[in-house]
Amino acid sequence: MAASEKSALSVPLLDLKPQYAALADAINAAIQSVVSEQGFILGPKVEAFESAVASYCGVSEAIGVSSGTDALMVAMMAMGIGSGDEVITTPYTFFGTVGTITRLDAKPVFVDIDPLTFNIDATRIADAITPRTRVLAPVHLFGQCADMTPIRQLARDHHLEIIEDAAQAIGARYGEQLAGAMGHVGCLSFFPTKNLGGFGDGGMVLTDDRVLAQTCRCLRNHGMEPKYFHSRIGGNFRLDALQAAVLQVKLPHLDRWQDGRRANAAHYRRLFEQAGISRKPEILAQDEGMDGIILPTEAPDCHHVFNQFVIYTPKRDALLKWLREHNVGCEIYYPLALHMQECFRSLGYREGDFPHSERAARMSLALPIFPDLSQLQLERVVSVIADFFKQQQ
Ligand SMILES: Cc1ncc(COP(=O)(O)O)c(C=O)c1O
Repeated sequence: MAASEKSALSVPLLDLKPQYAALADAINAAIQSVVSEQGFILGPKVEAFESAVASYCGVSEAIGVSSGTDALMVAMMAMGIGSGDEVITTPYTFFGTVGTITRLDAKPVFVDIDPLTFNIDATRIADAITPRTRVLAPVHLFGQCADMTPIRQLARDHHLEIIEDAAQAIGARYGEQLAGAMGHVGCLSFFPTKNLGGFGDGGMVLTDDRVLAQTCRCLRNHGMEPKYFHSRIGGNFRLDALQAAVLQVKLPHLDRWQDGRRANAAHYRRLFEQAGISRKPEILAQDEGMDGIILPTEAPDCHHVFNQFVIYTPKRDALLKWLREHNVGCEIYYPLALHMQECFRSLGYREGDFPHSERAARMSLALPIFPDLSQLQLERVVSVIADFFKQQQ
């Protein structure tokens, strides 16, 4: 390919069309089968998909729900979380993790992240536990598990329950254990950008607790059991048969896609090192003016599934502008940590309370990582970033 053609190559942050094209016949047939049967809400297609995900994730019960946010909501409702309860989590996550806690009138209590993994710093959790703490809610951000051994130990010591927000981490492993199967409850999202993404919203609650699973099934359908009799107040949190049918076709391909994401991450690492612009993660704490980028850290014994490939650079905003000008997709996850959000002002946190989360919000940038990226596209991303640092000198 000529240099001019290569420089014209655009690289989207995510392009789902090749994935659909490869599976179009099977997906179209699955959709047609739902349409022919005219059974759209719950039913056998949802049940079959629940069994498949339960077995993929290594749990005995899976409850299909309308989104990852609703998975968190249903799980917390089933556990009776409400007014006066505290839930410990991270301020550096998607809004849904914390929005659900506050919608139930419980109080989110934030603990800062480990800057290298972006996940809750387990060594700081003990200080945040009070007599009102009910749940530890670690988030496996960007596709890598939080440090679950100390978190589980704390939960045992303090008689707390664990809700894993595994929305971004289906299939990620911590040692031999799978994301979503290490706590009392795990929550998945099938939002289209996730590693297993549907054709709309969807989510799932995972658990080994049969009684809790039964409560979740009841709550996702208005707390109705039997029909039109309500012993508890639930909502409409049901998973559509169309989503389940599409996702069922995709699930057997998930491991291959995860391998593709991991291979892209490894390739980026080689290319950035060759280009001389990757810096040691330790420099983050020492030099916020450094040139170059810090690549994602894979914690020992963690199988990262790279829902996102997130780098650090102090020149983040200028780099983002440069990448977009050069037709390379990128995104900030997340530009404002949750303790600084206007809607959570009443929690009483202030700037400076969680410095690692605040720095991540200032300096992090997600680059394209989806499995259908070509070698040329990966090279293009790296060369555009290398050019950015050259023209800075
Ligand atoms: C960490 C995290 N938690 C919760 C959610 C909520 O999932 P959904 O968008 O399916 O409601 C998401 C998805 O965006 C997420 O990334």
